[in-house]
Amino acid sequence: MKIIVNGKELEVSGRRRLIEELREAGYDVPSLCYAPDAKHEPSCMVCMVKNEVNGEMLPSCGVYPSEGMRIDTDSEEVRELRRMAVELLLSEHKARCGGCESKAKCRLRELALQMKAKWNRFGALPPVEPVVYEHVTGRLYFEPAKCVRCGLCVYNSQDGFTFQRRGFNMQVVIPEESKGHVGENLAELCPTGALFLKE
Ligand code: SF4
Ligand code: SF4
Ligand code: FES
Repeated sequence: MKIIVNGKELEVSGRRRLIEELREAGYDVPSLCYAPDAKHEPSCMVCMVKNEVNGEMLPSCGVYPSEGMRIDTDSEEVRELRRMAVELLLSEHKARCGGCESKAKCRLRELALQMKAKWNRFGALPPVEPVVYEHVTGRLYFEPAKCVRCGLCVYNSQDGFTFQRRGFNMQVVIPEESKGHVGENLAELCPTGALFLKE
């Protein structure tokens, strides 16, 4: 099938998510709660694109292409929406990067820098929480203050991790009995320093 992307025709299979088709064709679409080959549920809205046919903004990691779509990946409007999505995550982030050991691998920080996102776009930031982390398994640790509730660990830990509560109060919990069953590879998947490896 054919879709139009930024004014140019693109042949797509229709069997892969829009973000995958776009990236394969060389379009740069950012993401946070999506990772190739991992289970996920669209939640962060960092991957938004616009369907110019009806003006709808779409999370490209959660939709499949359909015939006749006219996708905008790079207008100021689209980039501003993505920036706002990152700023919303930053506004709830209870840690600051200065002194954070996870800077080198942190996708949230990388996106914030790339997009020139403001940490305080939505008003005063939450206070920085003291560094408190819990041991999960092997070298894997969890620091809740750095979690942005993207869900990647929840959907890829074979029921080891769960979400507790809803909305702004939602948080990841790791039941004691599950701790031995999750893999250290979750640290790679986590887009912040919330899950990290330590000797
Ligand atoms: S986890 Fe990332 S965004 Fe959060 S303080 Fe560390 S480097 Fe900064
Ligand atoms: S711990 Fe990491 S992977 Fe899990 S929900 Fe939080 S930010 Fe996402
Ligand atoms: S990357 Fe698509 S909604 Fe998060």
